[in-house]
Amino acid sequence: MRRPLVAGNWKMNKTVEQASLLMQEMLPGLKAVSGVERVVCPPFTSLPAFSLLLADSGVGLGAQNMHWEASGAFTGELAPQMVKEFCTYVIIGHSERRAYFAETDETVNKKVKAALALGLTPIVCVGETLGEYEAGQTSAVVNRQIGEGFKGIEAAVAPQIVVAYEPIWAIGTGKAATSDGANAVLRDTIRPAMSQLWGGAVAQAIRILYGGSVNAANASEYFHQSDIDGALVGGASLKAPDFTKIVESARP
Ligand code: PGA
Repeated sequence: MRRPLVAGNWKMNKTVEQASLLMQEMLPGLKAVSGVERVVCPPFTSLPAFSLLLADSGVGLGAQNMHWEASGAFTGELAPQMVKEFCTYVIIGHSERRAYFAETDETVNKKVKAALALGLTPIVCVGETLGEYEAGQTSAVVNRQIGEGFKGIEAAVAPQIVVAYEPIWAIGTGKAATSDGANAVLRDTIRPAMSQLWGGAVAQAIRILYGGSVNAANASEYFHQSDIDGALVGGASLKAPDFTKIVESARP
């Protein structure tokens, strides 16, 4: 039985003061939900304040990115250990990082390995562009992202990985994938690709989220599907009542 997980990706939104106010507004509702792992990923600057705010709350804290090296001359980057000081989760390979910051399957692979080595839970994003979707290449693209992104990772540590399937055409567009369509990608492409790497039992144990225009009204449709174990939520995670409702609807 895979435990549901809902993570909010706040992206590049909110100063520390604004973020703390929003978190305080959300916290009572999020605390009250049981049976769902819930995580917020604010900008880096808010992580120290949030690690205090969320201590003993049952709400997890995640970063939106990190470097793979332990230290060194990488201006503007954060090392895994710096993320680990505050967080237990880290989003890796979000499509916006791949599109605007030149991240590749190879850098994703290095980052996932670095996260696992420190005991961080990586939330690893995969998904196809609109052009790839229209050309019927979803399976090929996602297969490659899984195969390359997870190359060389041992089966023993793989269950700690969380995958987020986020078709790029559905992110921030209001055009969510249908729940059947998303579930088919998880069931027929992502789990089989992971099964190739680590065997069927491990592939069945790994949680896969859907992301892309998830909101308070459509979330439960996804959570009723066989292979969707939660959601990675962007826009709707910046509204306290909406995000709380999404988390509540993931309750088993
Ligand atoms: P969205 O973003 O919910 O605003 O579509 C999802 C994401 O980018 O993780």
